[in-house]
Amino acid sequence: MTLLRAFFCQIFGLLLTFGLAYWLPIFHHPIVFLVTQSGLAVGSAFLLRQPSWWIPIHLLFLPSIFIFFTLALPSWFYLIAVVILTLIFWGTIRGDVPLFLSSTEVTEAVTVLLKKENVQAFVDLGAGVGSVAIPIAKKIPTISVEAWEHAPLPWLISVFRGRRLLNFTASRRNFFTADFSKYDVIFAFLSPRVMPEISEKLKGEMRAGTLFISSSFPAPNWQPESILHINDRLKTVLFCYRIVSKI
Ligand SMILES: C[S@@+](CC[C@H](N)C(=O)[O-])C[C@H]1O[C@@H](n2cnc3c(N)ncnc32)[C@H](O)[C@@H]1O
Repeated sequence: MTLLRAFFCQIFGLLLTFGLAYWLPIFHHPIVFLVTQSGLAVGSAFLLRQPSWWIPIHLLFLPSIFIFFTLALPSWFYLIAVVILTLIFWGTIRGDVPLFLSSTEVTEAVTVLLKKENVQAFVDLGAGVGSVAIPIAKKIPTISVEAWEHAPLPWLISVFRGRRLLNFTASRRNFFTADFSKYDVIFAFLSPRVMPEISEKLKGEMRAGTLFISSSFPAPNWQPESILHINDRLKTVLFCYRIVSKI
């Protein structure tokens, strides 16, 4: 559905710009044509409430095709580019969360929280290249740190980066299949789309007293124990949820 909507935005932008070019010669100029098409694609993406990460894709889609055509690159270049992007962004085309890295300030704040908790096992759900999990595994060698990531290339990078850390494990698996009862603190930087499903699983499986930290996106219908405002470039907000005792 997400992909269909993205396709619609691009086609809508293209057809409307062709229509304008038919009536107004100014739109024959390649730059005017490309800027108008990208602008219309972005505008329709806003109207159709596409997730925000589609905006740069819509902006750059037709201009990149144009630039690559003018460069006359060999066809294998496109094949390699598609393979690399697929290995990084994996399920994004189906609407999954794309790779987007937390800042070092976020990692530091999570490390401080972990030091305050009685933690033996920590996991990052959707760990990307290990930008949160690996520094934590280095800073707190007494805890077991797991990184769950389903995209092959980021997972491989985190395996390589963490190869010397005895307390670090990277699993190339869908975190929806993980057993959340194993962890004392769970961290996730995902998207509003998955928050309802993941928070139900967390509430059902995490043990009483354990902590879930969600970066940037609050869990629906769940009162956070605390909210931390991080002074990084994106002014990230960390929502911390404590599992209350289960009867
Ligand atoms: C926004 S990035 C966060 C990366 C890292 N946790 C950080 O904070 O820097 C989200 C990551 O979750 C991964 N992801 C999305 N859905 C997933 C799933 N169901 N199972 C495992 N990984 C997933 C994506 O491939 C992406 O690398």
